[in-house]
Amino acid sequence: MRAIICPEPGPISALELREVDDPKPRRGEVLIDVAAAGVNFPDVLIVQGLYQFKPSGAFTPGGEVAGTISALGEGVEGFAVGDRVAAVIPWGGFAEKVAAPTGAVVRVPDGMDLETAGAFNLTYATALHALQDRARLQPGETVLVLGASGGVGLASIDVAKAMGAKVIAAASTAEKLATCTAAGADAVIDYTTEDLKARAKALSGGGVDVVVDAVGGRYSEPALRATGWGGRFLVIGFAAGDIPKVPLNLPLLKGCAIVGVFWGSFVARQPADHARNQAQLAEWFEAGRLSPMISARFPLADTVDALRVLAERRARGKVVVTMG
Ligand SMILES: NC(=O)c1ccc[n+]([C@@H]2O[C@H](COP(=O)([O-])OP(=O)(O)OC[C@H]3O[C@@H](n4cnc5c(N)ncnc54)[C@H](OP(=O)(O)O)[C@@H]3O)[C@@H](O)[C@H]2O)c1
Repeated sequence: MRAIICPEPGPISALELREVDDPKPRRGEVLIDVAAAGVNFPDVLIVQGLYQFKPSGAFTPGGEVAGTISALGEGVEGFAVGDRVAAVIPWGGFAEKVAAPTGAVVRVPDGMDLETAGAFNLTYATALHALQDRARLQPGETVLVLGASGGVGLASIDVAKAMGAKVIAAASTAEKLATCTAAGADAVIDYTTEDLKARAKALSGGGVDVVVDAVGGRYSEPALRATGWGGRFLVIGFAAGDIPKVPLNLPLLKGCAIVGVFWGSFVARQPADHARNQAQLAEWFEAGRLSPMISARFPLADTVDALRVLAERRARGKVVVTMG
């Protein structure tokens, strides 16, 4: 099969497309013929050796795939050859075949094409876990989403709307904000030209209930300052690079909470709750309540270009690598 190989941590440009042996599914694994692999910011970080997981030696990056099961390892129950499935994995996804443990595999909902499925689970499951389990978002509350045209950002708009919230989307260009509006945002803020705190407070009538922050850097503090009494500030990621330090008098004065979100650990520690969330997402999708958006498709040979879209802050919606 063909696969993208990262010989060692370093620049994205050093990735190579190689012919390698097909993986063999071990006990408890299924072999997936990959149709599409979603591109996520952790892929950008892992290639450069900047993520919390560091594979040893050469490896294939790619954290989520969708495709068709072509073989079963020993002891696999509940899946069959020919099933349409998606999987979230630490790495290995930018390849024509992936062997994944069944615990990481879910069925693709009816009516969802495999490209969408390959770019759905990581961001949507993160958004649902963040908003439902961690923020306890209620219908009618207001959510401020930073980096709202990115993968986690757009999924957060979609999930928050499905939960009956009002969404204020913040992003860095007019084109990105147009994407957020198309995804259902009720109001938008360009945080490179507007006062994020003042605008978010004005748009929410005094303070937002929940902040979704997968960006970090200089936007986090003004967003925290825009929360109202009892607000919840969700710490999801640091795509901007800097991990911000915030004054701890802010949560005291606002009676608000700074809440960590680590979806990967949630999956490992609370598998039953994770399964419930997956079922929830599938049900919402099948009912037409979610509208995942793919903005760019790249063939496997152009995976470097796909990763660069995220690394260079150009993402507007989800990027997928297709096997063609
Ligand atoms: N905690 C968890 O469980 C969890 C799960 C999934 C992902 N994450 C994290 O969430 C973050 C976002 O992931 P994603 O896949 O949604 O990424 P993405 O699609 O690339 O979106 C990130 C957004 O961050 C903004 N940004 C600001 N400065 C940036 C910079 N220097 N470079 C790139 N983007 C920049 C961009 O929006 P603007 O240009 O509009 O500012 C961009 O749209 C990552 O840090 C990832 O590791 C965490």
